[in-house]
Amino acid sequence: MSWQRHRKQHPTRKTKLFAAILALAASNVALAQSLTGKWAAVERVLDNGEPLKVVLDLRQSGDTVAGKLTLLSRALDVHGTVAGKHFEIYGSMNAKKPFLTGDIEGGDLHLVIRGTETVVAHPATAADEIAIPAYIAPPPLHDVPSNGLAKTPPMGWNSWNLFAGKIDQETVKTMADAMVSSGMRDAGYVYVNIDDTWEGVRDAQGNLPANHKFPDMKALADYVHAKGLKLGIYSSPGPRTCASYPGSYGYEQQDAKTFAAWGIDYLKYDWCGASLIYKNDALHPVYQKMGDALQATGRPMIYSLCEYGMGSVETWGPNVGANLWRTTGDIRDAWDSMIENVEKQVPTAPYAGPGHWNDPDMLEVGNGHMTADEYRTHFSLWALVAAPLLAGNDIRSMTGETKSILLNTEVIAIDQDPLGKQASPVKNGDLETWVKPLADGSVAVGVVNLGAAAANATIKPGDLGFSKVKSARDLWAHADVSFNADGYSAKLPPHGVLLLRVAKAE
Ligand code: GLA
Repeated sequence: MSWQRHRKQHPTRKTKLFAAILALAASNVALAQSLTGKWAAVERVLDNGEPLKVVLDLRQSGDTVAGKLTLLSRALDVHGTVAGKHFEIYGSMNAKKPFLTGDIEGGDLHLVIRGTETVVAHPATAADEIAIPAYIAPPPLHDVPSNGLAKTPPMGWNSWNLFAGKIDQETVKTMADAMVSSGMRDAGYVYVNIDDTWEGVRDAQGNLPANHKFPDMKALADYVHAKGLKLGIYSSPGPRTCASYPGSYGYEQQDAKTFAAWGIDYLKYDWCGASLIYKNDALHPVYQKMGDALQATGRPMIYSLCEYGMGSVETWGPNVGANLWRTTGDIRDAWDSMIENVEKQVPTAPYAGPGHWNDPDMLEVGNGHMTADEYRTHFSLWALVAAPLLAGNDIRSMTGETKSILLNTEVIAIDQDPLGKQASPVKNGDLETWVKPLADGSVAVGVVNLGAAAANATIKPGDLGFSKVKSARDLWAHADVSFNADGYSAKLPPHGVLLLRVAKAE
């Protein structure tokens, strides 16, 4: 009996022992497969045929890991955690989501980048290194003369918000067609702007052609011009753009000449890869360099700075010949993002004016992730803050509602008012009132309901600095309203807006 029991128990103990040995072996494998070292992967192939390289230089210490992640367009310090063969790596201390996750397997890293792209990183060799071009000292400061453009905020369309990397010549042409047939051009939207991912590979003479998606840039410019529209393009002061395509670093004059020869009318110049070379103290002179290069071509081109508001750009933007500068990070088609962007540029209000504008980023109207009320608020706010109006939706297939927003000529007139003042807000609970003085002595006033419940908004003559009001018009209802000594009241839906144009009694 006791023997029997012994026999029965024996295999269980043996299994336990075996499992323990296996666990030890596995942990030894994990230890042997440390993340420490340099790893290289190709995330994907860019539209110009170049590999989108990723190099990770890591040091593992127990269950933590730290090091550097280098991409073509930027380098960042990373840190993360390791659990067995699995690891998670974050791009900044307060990031909520890991930049990449992965498993170490068979001497390679199986990575998931930004939660979507799966790639295998091998131990790096010298050929995998990402070469960073030699430092070019920024030029001494001087003032670039104004190009005389953008007396009112630029209006047009840009490819990025909707298409990102999936933009090509045919799409731009059909969009240009739609700008005309929809009435957008006649409402003032004249710039058709190609954003990142058009770039090819620099040739032996240093010329930067477009990639296969844009077979003939000059012909495209001719096509767009023939429709009474203008063509915009995108580059970076760094060696690489945000999407990792070649930037204009070291080729500023040559690229400006190429753009002019193609017939380009607008350049968005995006910092991104410049951060591999320069610190923020170089923003001003580096942007000046392209400002000079554009002027030297003799072709009038709008100069749009995109450096997310760093280094108080509003204070020196006009000195580099810029017509607009971004004040924020990238907008998303979401209420919170839209409100955050417009509120971020409140301190820059005194710096907006004819020829040079603060840019809270392109419009998301019509892209589908906000309600019609939210899009009306978005468009009203952009008009009140004299923002560039660059539509970011599909002009070829706009709903009637989207058209009624983007083509509201009474709201566009507020944005395009020749006085060029940027409204500032006064907050009262969930209601925010923005007042913009206009050239004819009247004002535009917008009350935004930031709350999730309907609310009553009242505008009083005193809110506008008026003792008495002559007339008032609701710019969304397209109707005159009676604005008496008590003011004017209206019920606002959640995230809705009341937008009036109010004239003062003499
Ligand atoms: C940055 C800019 C965007 C867009 C992309 C293109 O994120 O802020 O507006 O131009 O780069 O890569």
